[in-house]
Amino acid sequence: MFKLPDLPFSHDALEPLMSRTTLETHHGKHHAAYVKNMNGILTDIANAPKTLEEVVALSVKENNKKLFNNAAQTWNHAFFWESLSPSPQEPEGALKAALEKSVRLG
Ligand SMILES: [Fe+2]
Repeated sequence: MFKLPDLPFSHDALEPLMSRTTLETHHGKHHAAYVKNMNGILTDIANAPKTLEEVVALSVKENNKKLFNNAAQTWNHAFFWESLSPSPQEPEGALKAALEKSVRLG
């Protein structure tokens, strides 16, 4: 059984770039629904995987599109939250170089 992870910041922490409503919708509605649906599907699978990545892999292996959609969207939303920060940060290394090159070519 998977649980909806907490956001790593408050729902209004990204304002004004991303609104409280947006985070409440994508976390409290979308992400929560994908987790709930995935858990429902997994109750019908004997020896269901224990990690989200294993669930995604199983869904592909068994061509279970409903499981894949819910598991992959669960993963996508979790990855998205962990990719954001309320503290502005400068890109570094190869990403920074690629961005600077792109701007120069712009
Ligand atoms: Fe969403």
